[in-house]
Amino acid sequence: MRVVLGVGGGIAAYKSAELVRALQQRGHDVQVVMTRAAREFIQPLTFAALTGRKVITDLFSQSGGEDTLSSAVEHIAVAHENEVLVVAPATADLLARFSHGLADDFLTTLYLAFEGKVVLAPAMNSAMWEHAATKTNLGILQQRGHVIIEPEEGWLACGTLGAGRLPDPVRIAEQVDSITRRKRDLTGESILITAGPTQEALDPVRYISNRSSGKMGYAIAHAAAERGARVVLVSGPVSIPAPHNVEVIHVRTAQEMRKAVFDHLEETSIIIKSAAVADYYMANVPQQKLKKTATRLSLELDPTPDILAEAGQRKGDRLLIGFAAETENLVEEARRKMISKHCDMLVANLVNRDGLGFDADQNEVDIILPSGQAVHAGPADKKDIAERILDQVATLRLHLRAVEKPA
Ligand code: CTP
Repeated sequence: MRVVLGVGGGIAAYKSAELVRALQQRGHDVQVVMTRAAREFIQPLTFAALTGRKVITDLFSQSGGEDTLSSAVEHIAVAHENEVLVVAPATADLLARFSHGLADDFLTTLYLAFEGKVVLAPAMNSAMWEHAATKTNLGILQQRGHVIIEPEEGWLACGTLGAGRLPDPVRIAEQVDSITRRKRDLTGESILITAGPTQEALDPVRYISNRSSGKMGYAIAHAAAERGARVVLVSGPVSIPAPHNVEVIHVRTAQEMRKAVFDHLEETSIIIKSAAVADYYMANVPQQKLKKTATRLSLELDPTPDILAEAGQRKGDRLLIGFAAETENLVEEARRKMISKHCDMLVANLVNRDGLGFDADQNEVDIILPSGQAVHAGPADKKDIAERILDQVATLRLHLRAVEKPA
């Protein structure tokens, strides 16, 4: 894999030479780019000797004639030629410039032109690492889907003990490896995912909803996009950020979710319905706030449209993956829902255990396959469960394709 290594101006810049070696030992072809400040700490010659390539240091490294033109567009060429951009050490200043899109030297200009995966390994004094500005910038960069390798705790060059030390170069190289090994087995698929709860109004200020956080559906959306799919995420009201490279459609009610799903059905090849849709809604919502009285209040509710069941009727040759949230008889209930709603696969989870399922970071599920077989996954982080679910989806897709087109 072709990796461009950006070296920032920090005391840890000397470790970048070891990082070059660690990347090369794993078979990566490394091009080094240094900032002006980095050159105060380590000579470009060190990297040139290690890589056998010219080290790029300036945006306009030549003067006059054709060279000015070629160096002016070099950042575009380097951006296109390389698949991963690793920045180590990523100083507080670089994080700020990347997050705000400032492009006044080669590395920051390259960053803006770069379309591959970005890995940032920050290293700085611990007070700078803890500063609100650094935290905000990191949040922005994480939101863009970049991999942040957090600094380690230890003695820093400034003589203080704390977080801010560049991690072992081998750890950074391993991270690059795991990115390059990542599967792209959903390339060409167009996946529609629903996530989160719905809210059904009772009056202008109140609603019925449930405890779904949307974390499971968002994790699936993120993982599916990473695996090469085009992803549309139809999301109920949640408080988590949108995943990178995913088109998010925000809805509130079951009716709005239904409309968003079927508006996109045509272009969709796989539907994953992880949303916790409210089963009832109030058809005639009062215009004014309901007033408190001393007597019992009865609400008249109607069933919401069952989006999954309707998708089962209209799916054609699309893959349909449902979810089932249960508090008992998990696998039996899941098998029943899978058949009655015409799903190809169904992910079932118990939702009455602390720390798992609804509103939690972890989950434990049974994935019901078309044969009725249940594959258990977890307890594990929702992002790992998302990968396990997509492994089954990709396997089923491959199997169905093989059946459709016998050799
Ligand atoms: N679902 C849906 N539309 C609804 C209700 C549920 O699309 N109005 C979908 C959910 O997104 C999920 C699946 O149906 O993929 C199962 O949801 P769940 O709440 O477990 O089951 P219900 O069919 O609502 O049955 P019950 O609440 O009685 O268990």
